[in-house]
Amino acid sequence: MNERAKQQHKLRVGVIFGGRSGEHDVSLQSAQSVLAALDPAKYEVIPIGITRTGRWLSGDPLTALLARTAAQPATLLPDPGANDLLALELDNAQPAGLTTISQLDVVIPVLHGTYGEDGTVQGLLELANLPYVGAGVVGSAVGMDKAIFKQVMAAAGIPVLPWRLVLATAWTADPEGVLDELEAAFHYPVFVKPANLGSSVGISRCDDRARLRRGLAEAARFDRRLVVEQGADIRELEVAVLGNEQPSASIVGEIRPRRAFYDYVAKYVSDDSELLIPAPLDPDVAAEVRRMAVAAYQAIDCAGLGRVDLMLDRRTGALYMNEINTMPGFTRISMYPKLWEASGVAYGDLLDRLIDLALARHAVKNRLVTDFSVEDG
Ligand SMILES: Nc1ncnc2c1ncn2[C@@H]1O[C@H](COP(=O)(O)OP(=O)(O)OP(=O)(O)O)[C@@H](O)[C@H]1O
Ligand SMILES: [Mg+2]
Repeated sequence: MNERAKQQHKLRVGVIFGGRSGEHDVSLQSAQSVLAALDPAKYEVIPIGITRTGRWLSGDPLTALLARTAAQPATLLPDPGANDLLALELDNAQPAGLTTISQLDVVIPVLHGTYGEDGTVQGLLELANLPYVGAGVVGSAVGMDKAIFKQVMAAAGIPVLPWRLVLATAWTADPEGVLDELEAAFHYPVFVKPANLGSSVGISRCDDRARLRRGLAEAARFDRRLVVEQGADIRELEVAVLGNEQPSASIVGEIRPRRAFYDYVAKYVSDDSELLIPAPLDPDVAAEVRRMAVAAYQAIDCAGLGRVDLMLDRRTGALYMNEINTMPGFTRISMYPKLWEASGVAYGDLLDRLIDLALARHAVKNRLVTDFSVEDG
């Protein structure tokens, strides 16, 4: 039987947004679109906000976070079974009591970046045994970590640009030695990226040794682990993937940044990058892009949704996997929903599909044996 049909009441959907990452504001924008699109005839929507410092809020948290005002402190316990979103009563800033606000049937973590898209919130939802939209702990964590992601791609036979991992400790201990090694391995330009951030934060394009030195120092402010990657003259292609074990890929889109590269300003401030849907590609290249997108998605055990970003080398025509965003921007004008819209799936229907996928995955998981033990004698 369909999981949804078992519900006697409207499905109670917790939508979590905000959070501690640099993409807090992007999350609020995505959540605004999601909250507006969830059909009130089908769903009882329970908004859950997380402040920049990590405090959970209920009530009207979107307004509170946008206006930076107070809202009801809330929390979710890791105990499986209860599924309660709880109001946290405070007395002189100390926890003084818990009361149930609502039970949750499924959660949509509309969180981008660290402490949201990286498996951490997913871990809490696993402990609580709550169904949730999107990749699980491993898929989220691998999607977030640019270095581990590239290693998984290599193991799956999916090409990535040449790259090296540099530990911030190694860089600090011997900067000139690290620069010598990198200059022997790559030609300029090279890109330096913190392994675990998104939205181009801390990323530099480096055209000479002095800039590479500055780029490494900059990235080391954000992460212990730095990815150094061969720069190439590339076209940026994106595919929206939807599904659990048998995912489908949308048509291919292309981003033409107007700035030197698709950095934070291009993504969220200047907003003048051009989105081409579909990307102007030969049909066989587009088919290969979609094949690679699904293969990468499956290789990291992604689930629900993922926006898969690839690079096409303008000079050689080679395709390289760049990354999977396991909770991509989800406003109505974001690439992920636009790619599906152009592939025949409307924004509201996409949310219905994602919720169904979350419930289906949870049902499969709960049928698995997890407490195997050997009896004596
Ligand atoms: N090796 C490269 N060669 C040329 N351009 C690159 C290279 N790596 C990154 N770029 C440019 O920098 C941008 C940001 O890099 P990347 O996509 O790896 O990180 P990110 O965008 O921070 O991650 P996320 O998409 O998760 O937010 C790319 O969109 C592209 O414009
Ligand atoms: Mg990117």
